[in-house]
Amino acid sequence: MSNIRSAKVFVDRNFAIGETDPRLFGAFVEHLGRCVYGGIYEPGHPTADKQGFRQDVLALVRELGATIMRYPGGNFVSGYNWEDGVGPVAERPKRLDLAWFSTEPNSFGTNEFIDWCRVANVEPMFAVNLGTRGGDAARNMLEYCNHPGGTALSDLRRAHGWEKPHDIKFWCLGNEMDGPWQMESKTATEYGRIAVEAAKMMRWIDPSIELAACGSSSRSMPTYGAWEDTVLEHTFDHVEYVSLHTYFNNYASDTAAFLACPDLMDNFIEEVVAIADAVAAKRRSPKRIMLSFDEWNVWYRTRRVRADRVREGWPIAPPILEEIYSMEDALCFGGACISLLNHADRVKSACLAQLVNVIAPIMTELGGPAWRQTIFYPFAQMSKFGRGRVLRARVESETYASRYYDPRGDNDQYYAIPNAPYLKVAMVANEDGGLSIFALNRDLTGEMSVEVSARGFVPLKVGEATQLHHADLSAFNSKDEPDKVSPIQLTGVTVDGERIWMTVAPASWNVINLIPA
Ligand code: AHR
Repeated sequence: MSNIRSAKVFVDRNFAIGETDPRLFGAFVEHLGRCVYGGIYEPGHPTADKQGFRQDVLALVRELGATIMRYPGGNFVSGYNWEDGVGPVAERPKRLDLAWFSTEPNSFGTNEFIDWCRVANVEPMFAVNLGTRGGDAARNMLEYCNHPGGTALSDLRRAHGWEKPHDIKFWCLGNEMDGPWQMESKTATEYGRIAVEAAKMMRWIDPSIELAACGSSSRSMPTYGAWEDTVLEHTFDHVEYVSLHTYFNNYASDTAAFLACPDLMDNFIEEVVAIADAVAAKRRSPKRIMLSFDEWNVWYRTRRVRADRVREGWPIAPPILEEIYSMEDALCFGGACISLLNHADRVKSACLAQLVNVIAPIMTELGGPAWRQTIFYPFAQMSKFGRGRVLRARVESETYASRYYDPRGDNDQYYAIPNAPYLKVAMVANEDGGLSIFALNRDLTGEMSVEVSARGFVPLKVGEATQLHHADLSAFNSKDEPDKVSPIQLTGVTVDGERIWMTVAPASWNVINLIPA
């Protein structure tokens, strides 16, 4: 028999970190593998509508609760000509995509994506190409999309069948421009100059837009930190956000370290906040740059070197980066959800990378069904129960030490995580007066009894309490067993006045939604 650990959490309804922005619950659609073609868009599929949008996928996207959707890349955007993806489909060019060594047919583009967003009920977030293109293409694309009419480009949109402007608010100024894998990657100074000039022109066209400058493509980049500082020195007065990207791995087959590594996401966020605020301080500026964590997920099994791609030629929509997510991955992923919630004051936008098939919560078969991967559940629950004010939680839990291996960057690297609490939590005071508890038990062998003291709430009762747990951490969902890993009811949650008790399974993700009694 293993030991039962115990942990205590203290919150007060009046002590909040910040309000969750609905954009915290975003995802990402890139022209990559089968994310667009065979993912959200598959003309001829039994559930496809007349525009080729798969309705089975749309139903799962709505259930996922994604609020904003980044598009069209990713690495893809750094070689993308937006003009290729508009106008009559039969006249659109096929192009080599040097990001993923695929052929891009361009049968799906900006206008189709906007239509898809409207039916999916998500806000579009667009990235402009600051790799092979620059400010001129960016301002032209914005004029095409957002200007009402009376100019060549806005009238071109109208002639293409979209009379009303798309009114796209959120724009990313390029993607991962520090990465040598990026088409026309740049130094921080080169990028800072291009980004600020693009930003100026874009805002002159549409003052209502919000702009995100590229931060480092990961915390492991050798230029991390210095990159953010230089880029923000250039762009500070012209952007609202700086971006962050993180992909977690378990290359080292060290489950304890893998589950601890979302704590490095906490460090990453706090470091970028510090750099952004230092840039503000040098200007004596009250402006606060917010964070757009516009790519995050677990991803390591299906990473490919460029040589693999070259060997395969130039396929259209190949089945690449189709990571199959395990129970263990869902736990790490849940830890990342908690990290994002606990920084709701500064992370005002975040995108799970990606949406369908490509490192995704939703999988599809061509002509066949769609199903939920394990990571679908923590995300959907975060979006459903994470709305409101995230509370500053004092957690009393035993901790453990681990070393997390992350090979990205110049050298193989280990990161020390000296004090990961076995219990990682986020607590959200919901708009209905209730309280949602997100609790990850990182003890791999022991159950944990958790006592929560929640002050300042009206009397509460359990609305919903679920647990994601599987005795086999490598268990995953598939077409044949789509529900193998899915939440079950968490029994035994007790509420008595300001105290809540529960016992959670080892290696489990738990969500308890308390509502006014
Ligand atoms: O999401 C997959 C890829 O990861 C994106 O295209 C790129 O921005 C990142 O490196």
